[in-house]
Amino acid sequence: MRKKVTIVGAGNVGATCAQKIAEKGYADVVLVDIIEGLPQGKALDILQSGPIIASDSRLIGTNSYEETADSDIAVITSGVPRKPGMSRDDLILTNMKIIKDVTENVVRYSPNCIIIMVTNPLDAMAQLTLHVSKLPRNRVFGQSGILDTTRFRTFLAMELDVSVEDVSACVLGGHGDSMVAIPRLSTVGGIPITELLPKETIDRIVARTVKGGGEIVSLLKTGSAYYAPSAAVAQMVDAIIFDKKKILPCAAYLEGEYGITGAYVGVPVKLGANGIEQIIELKLTPEESEALKRSAEAVRELVNIMKLD
Ligand code: NAI
Ligand code: 2OP
Repeated sequence: MRKKVTIVGAGNVGATCAQKIAEKGYADVVLVDIIEGLPQGKALDILQSGPIIASDSRLIGTNSYEETADSDIAVITSGVPRKPGMSRDDLILTNMKIIKDVTENVVRYSPNCIIIMVTNPLDAMAQLTLHVSKLPRNRVFGQSGILDTTRFRTFLAMELDVSVEDVSACVLGGHGDSMVAIPRLSTVGGIPITELLPKETIDRIVARTVKGGGEIVSLLKTGSAYYAPSAAVAQMVDAIIFDKKKILPCAAYLEGEYGITGAYVGVPVKLGANGIEQIIELKLTPEESEALKRSAEAVRELVNIMKLD
């Protein structure tokens, strides 16, 4: 039996995620949005690509949650994206109302699902969903690190003129300006980039990575990135559905790991059928560890705005 994935929000990220997941053919997809006709139209359009791409995935679009019942995974993308000049954090008051309502509906119909948060500000929205859903932390986590590291990897591959496949990168922390790139653990063919590039070049690439989302917002002018974010979500869905136990950077709720308690922070995790099956603790230098703690503080300040009881 095919797995069932609900995607809430049929906008740029949600619809592109639906397309990427449906194209793989291993899961049925329910696309939910508040705009009448939008999820229905997009789901039908994607469904009609099935015969061409040889995918038997069933897709339906809906404005309610009955059809989402018993989903294995719910991907939450509903909310507003930022406009030029806005930070991800500026979205909190609008998106927290949406995410609270969406989470309640998702868990009412799928009480045992795994929730992947995408809506920004990512780490705060993941914490809100953990709080509202009352699911264990291994079943509520966020997409952020795969996107941040894929940007870092792309820029490194461009700089060194090598295959992206040979580049792996390490970015920790919140999905915002406080994210912490770790060049000494970023490699090309196993060689640390600190041995391949001068510090100034690495600093420039790190700065571009940290501002990577903003670069796309300023180009698009009417929304934010969605192709790479959707590819990142699809990789997480793959890892869960096929119990791959992949080591991927995700926003995970820390309870003492890295000396941080009670906040979502991007760290490497083992992702499998049970969601986050292990949080991997890297040995960080004192400077890296301090930067990660500062990033967690920035997340915490944002979470405090929501006054979760
Ligand atoms: P979008 O505006 O294209 O789509 C958002 C959709 O959510 C709209 O169709 C809207 O009607 C729907 N929506 C609003 N309230 C809803 C509700 N209560 N129930 C169901 N649907 C509702 O925006 P886009 O580009 O898809 O981005 C969505 C969110 O994802 C934004 O907050 C954005 O900042 C975030 N994002 C996060 C990324 C990450 O790496 N974590 C990457 C890209 C986007
Ligand atoms: C990004 O980094 C919008 O958070 C999203 O592109």
